[in-house]
Amino acid sequence: MLNINKIRAQFPILNRKVNGYGLVYFDNGATTQKPQSVIDAEANYYANENSNVHRGVHFLSGLATDKFEATRNTVQAFIGAKHNYEIIFTKGTTDSINLVANGFRTLLKKGDEIIISELEHHSNIVPWQMCCEQSGATLKVIPLLDNGSLDMDTFNNLLSENTKLVAVSHISNALGTINNIETIIEKAHNFGAKVMIDGAQAASHVALNMQELNADFYCFSAHKMYGPTGVGVLYGKEAALNALPPYQGGGEMIKEVSFEKTTYACLPHKFEAGTPNIAGVIAFKAAIDFITALGVKNIAKYEDELLQYATTEVLKIEGLKIYGTAAHKSGIISFNIDNLHPYDIGMIVDKMGVAIRTGHHCTQPIMKRFNIPGTARMSFAAYNTKAEIDIAINAIKKAKQMLS
Ligand code: ALA
Repeated sequence: MLNINKIRAQFPILNRKVNGYGLVYFDNGATTQKPQSVIDAEANYYANENSNVHRGVHFLSGLATDKFEATRNTVQAFIGAKHNYEIIFTKGTTDSINLVANGFRTLLKKGDEIIISELEHHSNIVPWQMCCEQSGATLKVIPLLDNGSLDMDTFNNLLSENTKLVAVSHISNALGTINNIETIIEKAHNFGAKVMIDGAQAASHVALNMQELNADFYCFSAHKMYGPTGVGVLYGKEAALNALPPYQGGGEMIKEVSFEKTTYACLPHKFEAGTPNIAGVIAFKAAIDFITALGVKNIAKYEDELLQYATTEVLKIEGLKIYGTAAHKSGIISFNIDNLHPYDIGMIVDKMGVAIRTGHHCTQPIMKRFNIPGTARMSFAAYNTKAEIDIAINAIKKAKQMLS
């Protein structure tokens, strides 16, 4: 059981007022708030530890390097990766996906196929379109069923010997659907295809074990899991990462440089050119420690209670329709009310201190699939409460009254 009051006390921002009301923050799918331990870790690095990593013999450089690498070990343990060098630090999920897509651009040719799905975030669509344009490969798309889950029969038909990569999200940011990635990975592997999972919405909401999951690549962002912005992870199996060429050239990623030929560093440094977000990576450890102390499974159970409660309550609002009704869902509710514009609903509830996201959520193909311009979206985190859901629902009702 989570002690929600104790959890909330760790988040200073939850005490602030917005437009004269206590903040109800339901935009966790966009980014979560940060506990004091993460804020302190980042400030402490700049106050007491600031130095570049892997680049100096002096005390501070050694300290910064040790702490930077400690986060890598913490991420490895958190996601059950086999080796710490299978953890690559990036700027975020988008950067991680682009790293993989850039690599596949050089590995694929005409006739090869990449499969994505209709529920992907733009960051798991556009890099693959660019990869196909540049390599001659073809992009195939798994369609969505009406409840927001993937049409697995069509997926089976799309798979062939030509499939070289399947790239799908673990959890849909717009609909909350938890995809059956275990089956997707197994089926893709049966055809010899590699699998990349966009785990941006999953990493602090479901327990992960890379060795059991068997994905070739898995991407996520620190800022959606109580950590700093500007830090992401690309997990890749050792062999899968070694098969990719470097993403960016520069310092840190080389073994030897000469004008005739440059050789590249081993994993993980081969993919970490330039000075990274050292403060962010160090503070990311505090975020994972925060999640681990609560237990991801406890967080998942609690967020599911919030989801069930909010779903029941929100459906009492006449004319409200939820998009994304799959049996297996994460704590995300996307909705519209009659023909009211979601933006207007978002604007009015904001005046009452309730933060929700409105719009297409960087998933225009999903909006097209449901023939809507966008939705209003509530997305939950471990510090949210049923009392906050009640406040949000009252605010939504008031918005409906004002707009109808
Ligand atoms: N992808 C983030 C969201 O869904 C920004 O809000």
